[in-house]
Amino acid sequence: MLDRYGRNIDYLRISLTDRCNLRCIYCMPEEGIRQIPRTELLDTDEIVRICKAASELGISRIKLTGGEPLVRRICTPLVKELKAIPGICQVTLTTNGILLGEQLPGLMEAGLDAVNISLDTLEETTFRKITRRDDFHQVLKGLRAALSYPSLKVKLNCVPTFQSDEELLQVAALARENPLHVRFIEMMPIGLGKEFAARGEELIKSVLEKEYGSMTPTEEKLGNGPCHYYTLEKFTGRIGFISALSHKFCDSCNRVRLTSTGFLKGCLQFEDGADLKVLLRSGCSDRMLKETIEKVIYEKPVGHNFQEHKKGNEESHIMAQIGG
Ligand code: GTP
Ligand code: 5AD
Ligand code: SF4
Repeated sequence: MLDRYGRNIDYLRISLTDRCNLRCIYCMPEEGIRQIPRTELLDTDEIVRICKAASELGISRIKLTGGEPLVRRICTPLVKELKAIPGICQVTLTTNGILLGEQLPGLMEAGLDAVNISLDTLEETTFRKITRRDDFHQVLKGLRAALSYPSLKVKLNCVPTFQSDEELLQVAALARENPLHVRFIEMMPIGLGKEFAARGEELIKSVLEKEYGSMTPTEEKLGNGPCHYYTLEKFTGRIGFISALSHKFCDSCNRVRLTSTGFLKGCLQFEDGADLKVLLRSGCSDRMLKETIEKVIYEKPVGHNFQEHKKGNEESHIMAQIGG
């Protein structure tokens, strides 16, 4: 359906949990975040009910994210149930890759369409500095597992922080040698991300072009998110950029978000939305649920204003809680 600014909203991002098995310095505090009691999280049936109502309003693509979605056991059965909803044509996953190797066979059987793996560096020591964990080889295993399924679309997410240019070139080169796309994400000043200067798209692009030659914009549709892509000669995959600040994409936003505790948000930055969990658990009708979702979509904010936005409860702005 269209929101009040005429944008077609057909993509729902669902955070399955705030928890994560990494502690990326720009996302999670070292000590982790408050544990949400399991009973406060939406369960499979509740998520499926919301998605059925959303699909009747035109949602056709679903992203499962977190935190780390694979730390919740419901992930695989959920993919299967979501894929069975009439009108849902794609279910995709964004993960840090640690648990991917072991869960991918089940996820593939359930019908997973695509996976995005977060990997900021190919240097083990930098990986440890960024994530505060030793799971580098586990992530590589997950990536290899993903590439072993030709029908699975694979992308990598890399957030440049203090990696060297050489490291960024190495990450980009994965798209030269493999059928995957590498995306560089501009740091968003959300929660701990505020502590880091964003290394802008132009800067990274010039580093890549110096080594790999010119980059040509492409209009190919390679996902459902806000990334724009370039082709490079001799590269199998594409190089993309998600630049929420330097190339603001809110005008063409197509998505709303559901938090792990069942709050439907119109935009990642704002608290506007509706508590669907309260609604579901008070025994609401399907019609009431659908009308509430419709209202959130229609009233979706015009866009983020990261630069101006100072107020707000910091905890609610931890990236893992918003759902990436
Ligand atoms: P695909 O294109 O289908 O792969 O989806 P995606 O790029 O939306 O998925 P992913 O979960 O990998 O997100 C990549 C980055 O885009 C993350 O850093 C998200 O926070 C960011 N992102 C996704 N949607 C939005 C949005 O609406 N606003 C902003 N500012 N960032 C977003
Ligand atoms: N700015 C940009 N991207 C971020 N991510 C986490 N925090 C931020 C931030 N502040 C990225 C993760 C992951 C994706 C889902 O979001 O690295 O790849
Ligand atoms: Fe976990 Fe992703 Fe946040 Fe890293 S960026 S701590 S992998 S949720």
